[in-house]
Amino acid sequence: MPRTKRQKWASNLGLERVLEPSVRDAVHGPSDHRGQWHANVFGNAHPITLELGCGKGEYTVELARRHPERNFIGVDIKGHRYWHGAHAAAQAGLTNAAFLRAKIEFIENHLAPGEAHEIWLPFSDPQPGDERGTKRLTGAPFLERYRRLLGSGGIVHVKTDSRFLHEQTLLSAAACGVQVTHEIEDLYASSGTDCEPALKEWLAIQTRYEERWLGRGCTISYLQLKL
Ligand SMILES: C[S@@+](CC[C@H](N)C(=O)[O-])C[C@H]1O[C@@H](n2cnc3c(N)ncnc32)[C@H](O)[C@@H]1O
Repeated sequence: MPRTKRQKWASNLGLERVLEPSVRDAVHGPSDHRGQWHANVFGNAHPITLELGCGKGEYTVELARRHPERNFIGVDIKGHRYWHGAHAAAQAGLTNAAFLRAKIEFIENHLAPGEAHEIWLPFSDPQPGDERGTKRLTGAPFLERYRRLLGSGGIVHVKTDSRFLHEQTLLSAAACGVQVTHEIEDLYASSGTDCEPALKEWLAIQTRYEERWLGRGCTISYLQLKL
């Protein structure tokens, strides 16, 4: 069992559905798999959901397990983090879960417009010092990127323990003309009230990050955006 970051990076190399493009491809693009995910990675035409800033990839693995009729890609810049999800997916024989090492700023180098259909952003870093929203994954430049990627009407799910990120996301959405189609201020106080059953089930998935902050009494909120 790999213990260090280097050992985990090395162990990722042996996995079929872990894509780790060179820095040159990642930054200047397009990388080889752009426009080829269905044909070359998944071998089907099922819709693709992205988990951006996936950390250990718990959403990617759990959604892939529940939805064999869809494909999932966990994206993070830190390969030793998604090592956990990538190995869990391989061990479970999930052929509809893949992992990509990339900076989200360059996500358009890795997926063609219309190639992905939905985005999950669980517990993104709030980036309180990022006044222009160029680092926060729900900042206006990112929402514009997601709109180019998914097309108008694409859905973005934002689950957070940060009131700051929640409020900044609402401001960015308003600035970009993005519709807020669902807002839950306290997931564990109100999740049963007006949620459709599928969404309720997805929101019940907990990452270790969420478990930690819940244990400390944090309030977890949810926003659904329509691009
Ligand atoms: C707070 S953690 C949350 C991880 C996971 N979503 C969870 O709920 O446990 C944020 C993750 O986003 C990744 N991340 C933050 N900004 C990123 C960026 N611009 N590009 C790629 N990954 C990023 C970090 O490496 C980290 O793993």
